[in-house]
Amino acid sequence: MAILPPAHPDTAELAAGWRSAYVHIPFCARVCPYCDFAVVGGADDRMGEYIDALLAEIAMEPAWHPLDAVFVGGGTPSRIPLEHMARIVDALAGHFGLADDAEVTLEANPEDWTEQHSDGLASLGFTRVSFGVQSFDPVVLASLGRLHSPQQAAEALGVAVSSRFGSVSVDLIYGHPDETDDSWLETLDATVAFGPDHVSTYSLTVEPGTELWRQVRSGAPAPDSDVQADRWEQAAASLGAAGYTRYEVSNHAQVGHGCRYNLSVWGQGEYLAFGLGAHSYRDGVRSRRVRRLDTYIERVRSGIGPIQSSDVIGGWDAELERLMLGLRRSAGVRGGEGGTALLDSADGVRLIDAGVLEVEGDRLVAAKPLLTDEIIRAVLDLEEPAG
Ligand SMILES: C[S@@+](CC[C@H](N)C(=O)[O-])C[C@H]1O[C@@H](n2cnc3c(N)ncnc32)[C@H](O)[C@@H]1O
Ligand code: SF4
Repeated sequence: MAILPPAHPDTAELAAGWRSAYVHIPFCARVCPYCDFAVVGGADDRMGEYIDALLAEIAMEPAWHPLDAVFVGGGTPSRIPLEHMARIVDALAGHFGLADDAEVTLEANPEDWTEQHSDGLASLGFTRVSFGVQSFDPVVLASLGRLHSPQQAAEALGVAVSSRFGSVSVDLIYGHPDETDDSWLETLDATVAFGPDHVSTYSLTVEPGTELWRQVRSGAPAPDSDVQADRWEQAAASLGAAGYTRYEVSNHAQVGHGCRYNLSVWGQGEYLAFGLGAHSYRDGVRSRRVRRLDTYIERVRSGIGPIQSSDVIGGWDAELERLMLGLRRSAGVRGGEGGTALLDSADGVRLIDAGVLEVEGDRLVAAKPLLTDEIIRAVLDLEEPAG
């Protein structure tokens, strides 16, 4: 495949045709206080039966196209022993096939990363590793409840950058009340110094039901949205100066290193999903899997399958979804019927006048990425044109 500039409209359109698969690994050493994903802490003794269920779920899925991208996310996939990971990769490759240049990503926590594990995963065919570094400030790491130190993150990145992975990515979280402007700047500088191919920067979100949410309800300081906006600007400036292109609100990459799996999801491409709480989109149907470990294993074992709910996404709903997904990208989205309706609406006119939304040729682009959610709300309110 050609080397693709991550924010180019042609890359965005090409990605819509890629076929991907997401595999969810729910196991974590313990659950971080801010985390709302489908995870289980301290339950590693259940790994074997979970992987058996995953393989059974893969085998139940009707045959499909060879996969252009696979994303093994979590939870903490780097906790899974290599022999189990080999079974997952073999099952996907055997049942669907992998494209010759498939991107195969694994999410990893720095404290798990050893040279042996790194080499083993590269030998299994993983081409990309994404580390949950979050911060290089020990105070922020402790406040986030992370188990690793800045030193461990540095060592893991050092091993991965010099190994056989085609792409190394770093996740960072900004905006914890214990973080300062200087601390964030130093985290960005330290990240850039390692030269990862891709950096994701997420603003800390207080998700309902999490430990962080309970703390904030009991009076602990919440993240400040104005501070988070400043931190986003700083990330865009520091990473831009270091040669990264921001190709989505929170994602920055070197040329040729945009995450294909994510690009395909934002392009409304189809993707399979396997595992606890995972979402798929196939044949115009979005499906969500159950989020309880016991229920997932029981339902797969009994042959019922783990789908909790499904929605057929067609017609006008599909058009609005295409806009909402695509507007998160720097390349924006082709206007089409939904774009015309947006530009004709009172909200659309207001957003254009305010310079939040721009028209670039046949595309709509969020000119102020931090206000993308405002555009998305306007899209959600659009009525289907009559006739
Ligand atoms: C679900 S985690 C899985 C990766 C890995 N277990 C980890 O934590 O490093 C994927 C990424 O989501 C981000 N994330 C999770 N919860 C978040 C929250 N409440 N606010 C902002 N970012 C969050 C973190 O940056 C994390 O690296
Ligand atoms: S943030 Fe990552 S390590 Fe922490 S609980 Fe969530 S998935 Fe697990």
